Amino acid sequence: MVPYNLTEDRGWGLEIFEVKRCLEEARSAGLTVRAMVVINPGNPTGQVLSITNQEEIVEFCRKELVDEVLVDEVYQDNVYVENKKFHSFKKVARSLGYDEMDLSIVSFHSVSMGFCGESGRRGGYMEITGFGDDVKVQIYKVACHYLPQHSWPNPYQPCHGSA
Ligand SMILES: Cc1ncc(COP(=O)(O)O)c(C=O)c1O
Repeated sequence: MVPYNLTEDRGWGLEIFEVKRCLEEARSAGLTVRAMVVINPGNPTGQVLSITNQEEIVEFCRKELVDEVLVDEVYQDNVYVENKKFHSFKKVARSLGYDEMDLSIVSFHSVSMGFCGESGRRGGYMEITGFGDDVKVQIYKVACHYLPQHSWPNPYQPCHGSA
């Protein structure tokens, strides 16, 4: 894993040159970086990335051949600052003309982070776009491994949609 820093002076924004610096450092140390992880909105910083910043990230991944973006978007319903708005990475990627073939995106969500932050609820889910069935099968297999034997309905039931 290759960490990158956020910039406090810029509202804990993510500066592409810093990510690029970390990526280059990792590559020169012989690492192969396959995915970028972004937490938006952030905790505990409360940062909400601007749409321009998200576009930069998407373009950066495309240009640098980082094919996958893993986004923790669990706080998407918990933005209370008037001039800030949450945009999903999938929406931003699509608005730039990139589809599933161009960039794989996994968006994570949690049942404990609804509109009032229902802390204590246990359960998470993710939307997987841009991965082949071979990868999805493995993800379901690993998820089902942790499934309690008597659960019904199956909480790992895959949902297929195009939202
Ligand atoms: C940014 C972020 N993502 C994910 C989680 C995980 O949430 P949970 O374990 O309640 O599903 C947290 C928990 O605080 C969080 O801050």
